[in-house]
Amino acid sequence: MKTFRDVERIIKGQATSDGDGVKLTRLLTQDLQKRLDPFLMLDAFGSDEATDYVGGFPDHPHRGFETVTYMLEGKMRHQDSAGNTGLLEDGGVQWMTAGKGVIHSEMPEQKEGRMSGFQLWLNLPSHQKMCSPWYKDIQRNEIPEKTLPNGITIRVIAGESLNTLGAVQREVTQPLFLDIHFPEDKSSSFEQFIASEHNAFLYVYHGEVSVDGQSKIQAVRSKEMAILSNKAEFVAITANAKTKLILISGAPLKENIVQYGPFVMNTKEEIIKAVEDFRNGEFA
Ligand code: FE2
Repeated sequence: MKTFRDVERIIKGQATSDGDGVKLTRLLTQDLQKRLDPFLMLDAFGSDEATDYVGGFPDHPHRGFETVTYMLEGKMRHQDSAGNTGLLEDGGVQWMTAGKGVIHSEMPEQKEGRMSGFQLWLNLPSHQKMCSPWYKDIQRNEIPEKTLPNGITIRVIAGESLNTLGAVQREVTQPLFLDIHFPEDKSSSFEQFIASEHNAFLYVYHGEVSVDGQSKIQAVRSKEMAILSNKAEFVAITANAKTKLILISGAPLKENIVQYGPFVMNTKEEIIKAVEDFRNGEFA
């Protein structure tokens, strides 16, 4: 029998800024890291005002996890200490495994117009935290996309949906990252299987959806994130306007999480070592 996930909690996020004054909303905050294991952070950014983003994210380090940047609108230049450089454009994804350490910058390549998107932090299992850094720019046309007969379009960034493999797969954390677009003119529904032990959440960035759960039907409005219950498998979503959302899930690592800014390790000692290594120039 199919079981359907309920909305467990609605999150509105916290307005904050990061990098050199980039305005954003932090949706997945540190207090949710255990509940949404293996995910560590989700930021949404979106502004028509250049002053909100033009400072970008100058050189900064990371160790112990992966960063996934999904650009909806705008252009951002990436450069890192592993020698990678790339331009992230509308609809593209940048997937970076920081592993044992990188220093990188993410700078807007525009001085006007709209910039919007997401940055998701995905944890690495303890045995991979000190792996070599890895990086991939995935352009818009490289992200598998499928349109259902009812008009819903699914962009499969990671994992698998509708028998379509996403642009990135990860064996341990098994991330699913979908961007789901509903058609404008009619009410449509979409169902996605997610193993019940995997943690899952969605964020509506345009329009409004209803999550048709096992015990209740709940609306999730624009700019709201919904944590989905683990007692069931399927996520059933209905929307009747030109709604857009991201749906994310992953297999929990169930390991200790110690975060100090851009370093996420398993123990305090490993964090101290990360700070030391960074100061000693070992990330460069
Ligand atoms: Fe970064």
